[in-house]
Amino acid sequence: MKSEIETKAKTSYPKDKIRVVLLEGVHARGAAMFRGEGFHVESLSGAPDEAKLLKLASECHVLGVRSKSLVPRKVLEASPRLLAIGCFCIGTDQVDLGEARDRGVPVFNAPFSNTRSVAELTIAEVIALSRQMFPKSTQMHAGQWDKSATGAHEVRGRTIGIVGYGHIGSQVSVLAEAMGMRVIYYDIVPKLPLGNARAVRSLAELLRESDFVTLHVPANESTSGLMGSRQFKLMKPGAFLINNARGSVVHVPALVAALKDGTVAGAAVDVFPHEPASKGEKFESPLCGLPNVILTPHIGGSTEEAQETIAMDVAEKLIKFVNVGTTTGAVNVPEVELPPQHVDLMGMNERDGDLGTGDGKSLETPRKHRILHFHRNVPGVLRQVHARIAGLGANVSAEYLRTNEQVGYMVLDVDPTNARKVVEEIRQVPETVRVRVLW
Ligand code: NAI
Repeated sequence: MKSEIETKAKTSYPKDKIRVVLLEGVHARGAAMFRGEGFHVESLSGAPDEAKLLKLASECHVLGVRSKSLVPRKVLEASPRLLAIGCFCIGTDQVDLGEARDRGVPVFNAPFSNTRSVAELTIAEVIALSRQMFPKSTQMHAGQWDKSATGAHEVRGRTIGIVGYGHIGSQVSVLAEAMGMRVIYYDIVPKLPLGNARAVRSLAELLRESDFVTLHVPANESTSGLMGSRQFKLMKPGAFLINNARGSVVHVPALVAALKDGTVAGAAVDVFPHEPASKGEKFESPLCGLPNVILTPHIGGSTEEAQETIAMDVAEKLIKFVNVGTTTGAVNVPEVELPPQHVDLMGMNERDGDLGTGDGKSLETPRKHRILHFHRNVPGVLRQVHARIAGLGANVSAEYLRTNEQVGYMVLDVDPTNARKVVEEIRQVPETVRVRVLW
């Protein structure tokens, strides 16, 4: 690893020299936050092709992407200045997380920022299904007036069964209860019930009791095909299914059969096993054309509020990492929450390894220097680091460390007089991946 990676110390830059590149139309609030910190920001609306991305990434310190910009090893190799990557979305698959980790580049995302949006869509669908809103609307568009109440119900007093009582599931729980619904849920992990919600012991129990079954589980081996013909048969007659989780969770041909033979009264589906990659691509599914089936193009989390919250969430994590060294919320490196350091990045000297200040102010008010050290997590690294620091007689006022299987992240607050020597010593440790200094 060391042969590929330059391990010399990266010192703090003047803030306006920190270049942030945001791709794919990240909400303007993100750029505003970076600008508020004094960083230089470039925002692009689309996803660049690989050559353009290589160039942009190689010239920036912070890269912000959404789901369409791939950041493979090749891009990371070409981007030695890159300090961190922000995925302004939920998923992080578009980034080679292992490679970024091995280079000491934390990757941040926004796992909960669209939770409320998905929960609200789910509630809207509960009522829409119960009132046959979509078939009635379709009839009206065709000039038909059918005012009949047959089969239309209030949701008050009805039971909603939530499969997966995580962030979204528990929000649905709160909203559904506020509408007077009875809430039950099934989760493989014990979860604190909110309000009057009640946990059930099995999926089968949930299916037998629920008027609405709503899925909020992740896509994984345990949830693949979770809802198939056997499960549909267990559902209460007249019950509805809502899938705003992932396409793989429902066996679509079985759902189509259950809808056609009336086992399931209706469905709302936002996610599909095969989803068009872009706007122009045709959507095809055996669910198309079935009555009382609401189809939406994976918009559960797509609201302007969610986009803004995502931008704020990820920008804040990136700013905290650049300014303070905090890695809380990183998906690929150990998470270390750091107290604010008496760090003043203004007027800093850009020269690598130079611990002098640019404005002379810190000479009047000496601050601790913070050394951020990513290293390969193999036995003996800490011993080496401690021995080297002890050899210098350096005054370390605080030390923070977290490791995962592959890398360790160590942060040292040291007296300014020792900082340069400590960095030089740490650089000599062969397992060092990256060193950065804040002061
Ligand atoms: P979460 O991780 O907070 O909650 C998932 C819950 O499912 C956890 O409590 C977990 O223990 C439970 N679970 C896992 N496997 C299970 C199983 N086999 N049976 C029962 N429970 C199980 O995730 P969050 O944020 O609530 O999101 C849920 C899913 O919603 C995401 O994984 C994603 O696939 C989907 N989603 C869809 C969006 C859309 O636009 N339609 C937007 C955002 C998320």
